Amino acid sequence: MPDSRPIAILGGTGPAGTGLALRWARVGETIIIGSRDAHRAQEAADKIKSKVGDQARISGMENSAACAAADVLVLTVPFEGQATLLKQLKPAIRSGSILIDATVPLAAGVGGRASRTLGVWQGSAAQQAAELVPKGVTIAAAFHNLSADLLNGNEALDCDVIVCSDDPDALQLTLTLAARLPGVRAIDGGKLENARILEQITALLIGLNIRHKGHGGIRITGFPPEAYR
Ligand SMILES: NC(=O)c1ccc[n+]([C@@H]2O[C@H](COP(=O)([O-])OP(=O)(O)OC[C@H]3O[C@@H](n4cnc5c(N)ncnc54)[C@H](OP(=O)(O)O)[C@@H]3O)[C@@H](O)[C@H]2O)c1
Repeated sequence: MPDSRPIAILGGTGPAGTGLALRWARVGETIIIGSRDAHRAQEAADKIKSKVGDQARISGMENSAACAAADVLVLTVPFEGQATLLKQLKPAIRSGSILIDATVPLAAGVGGRASRTLGVWQGSAAQQAAELVPKGVTIAAAFHNLSADLLNGNEALDCDVIVCSDDPDALQLTLTLAARLPGVRAIDGGKLENARILEQITALLIGLNIRHKGHGGIRITGFPPEAYR
């Protein structure tokens, strides 16, 4: 069943955000596309609606309006914009919100290679986000290892999503949302500090994608069925 809480995707006009929005809109979730520009957000929302159909519950808003309208937030911006955006949005983010961070600190953002990550002082982009959100906002890290090309298509995804969080509610909600994506199994990946590893796996996948000309994802095998959502 769809969660009745709207999901605001901040930076939702890029391939990662639109892909998640498309997949969740298709299964009946209520989506708000966030952007620095309200017009661009609405355009992206309209485009997704045209793919999903009139029943899609999707709208577009400037990022701070999206934060004010939802308490489930998904952050899909480049690492180089993450800290500045979160500082700007701090007054708009509602206490009690859950922020799901998908940011990968790719070296490409500062002129390096896409198949490498930058060192982040806090340990990971997700831990940096945790330092920047208002008190009372909890963080989960997820969706780093899903290809936006696949998300924006029609096929089942054939990938696992590992979720890391220090907060049980943020963890459970994110596992539920991940498992709503067709073909995805969601796995509890432990503490938020493990986000560093998820972020690095993306850099590895980018290198593999270049080498093998595809859109790789990951599957974790060998656990009892209850380990997979
Ligand atoms: N692409 C993938 O396959 C993939 C998969 C997993 C995770 N990720 C991660 O998810 C994040 C988004 O990926 P993406 O490929 O969708 O990125 P993107 O297209 O470069 O950026 C996404 C959106 O972020 C906003 N944005 C760009 N620069 C910004 C800045 N300096 N400050 C605030 N907002 C900014 C833009 O929206 P507006 O201009 O409309 O505000 C843009 O459309 C990245 O951290 C990426 O590493 C990507």
